[in-house]
Amino acid sequence: MLEPLSQGLIGSRFRWAITGAAGFVGSHLVESLLALGQEVVGMDNFLSGSTKNLEEATEKLTDDQRRRFTFIEGDIRNPEDCLALCRGVDIVLHQAALVSVPRSFEDPLLNNQCNVDGFLNVLLAAKKSGARSFVYASSAAVYGDGGEKILTEDASLNPKSPYAVAKMTDELYSQVFASDLNIAGLRYMNVYGPRQDPTSPYSGVISIWLSRIAQGQQPVIFGDGKNTRDFIYVKDVVQANIKAALFKGEKHEVFNIGTGHSVTLLDLLSVIRELYSEKTGKVAPEGTFAPFREGDIRYSKADISKAEKMLNYKPTYDLREGLDRTIDWFIFQRTG
Ligand code: UD1
Repeated sequence: MLEPLSQGLIGSRFRWAITGAAGFVGSHLVESLLALGQEVVGMDNFLSGSTKNLEEATEKLTDDQRRRFTFIEGDIRNPEDCLALCRGVDIVLHQAALVSVPRSFEDPLLNNQCNVDGFLNVLLAAKKSGARSFVYASSAAVYGDGGEKILTEDASLNPKSPYAVAKMTDELYSQVFASDLNIAGLRYMNVYGPRQDPTSPYSGVISIWLSRIAQGQQPVIFGDGKNTRDFIYVKDVVQANIKAALFKGEKHEVFNIGTGHSVTLLDLLSVIRELYSEKTGKVAPEGTFAPFREGDIRYSKADISKAEKMLNYKPTYDLREGLDRTIDWFIFQRTG
């Protein structure tokens, strides 16, 4: 997995800033970039990230690789912290966010503080520090309900939650501020993998279901189970970030980042239950149904050919492979 990525980095050592470094996606970026011999400075406020994630991210590295990592405990809502993070860096990967759609309804102001004000603080700090590129986590949520259409990046945007409004606003700010900085917005589909917080009710469906199953509880399906999502393994999101950071294109580009294949929640659950039984010899509890969740998108299916063509991005884990590794981590606490 690191092989094709290292091609773009041969002979170059960049200094990378990562927000949300102790979080799910951020800690995987820390791990991969250090393994590729890069200098990394990470920041997190530990609102949802953890030191355990950072320990796990760095435990398999050599001392030399580990020495190239600096950590700042700080908050993207504080412009001074963002300036300290971005000082002297070449590339900024902005991952810190409040990632949950339901949480953004419960606390729209906090959503705005983190996902809009915080975003702007990091973007402005990246510009001020003279970084050459800025890659940020946008979301497939910006499309809203596109029906069963396969969405390309030029599809109209129709946010259905405060979270989606924030991500769309970030894209608009990026458009405005991209004059002397290469900016790429990655519209993530549903990211999953080891270190996705299994304890938070705001976490992604796969981590919530796996932790329930591991405790012998029934996974809850909101709605009729026919919502579709494109589930993307976290290591492929790492690949997309690194390739987008090294890409020299227009001043601001957005890319769909997924596998290009969507499944229903019911199909997802049956693959999880099957793999769980194969691995543990136990029968996983069946799903139970609850009402549809506010702001949920019904169908999510995006075309990833722009990222394939322009970034040479290629998803390397299909759903089964990604779930296999994720289940190993959740059930046996092994990193995948
Ligand atoms: C997710 C991401 C969001 C990202 C978006 C892109 C998380 C927490 N959210 O939102 O940051 O921008 O994808 O598409 O990773 N569900 C259940 N049972 C549960 C939990 C969820 O049935 O216990 C259902 C939800 O109703 C939804 C689907 O699973 O239909 C996915 O939900 P969730 O994992 O929360 O992600 P999204 O809301 O799609």
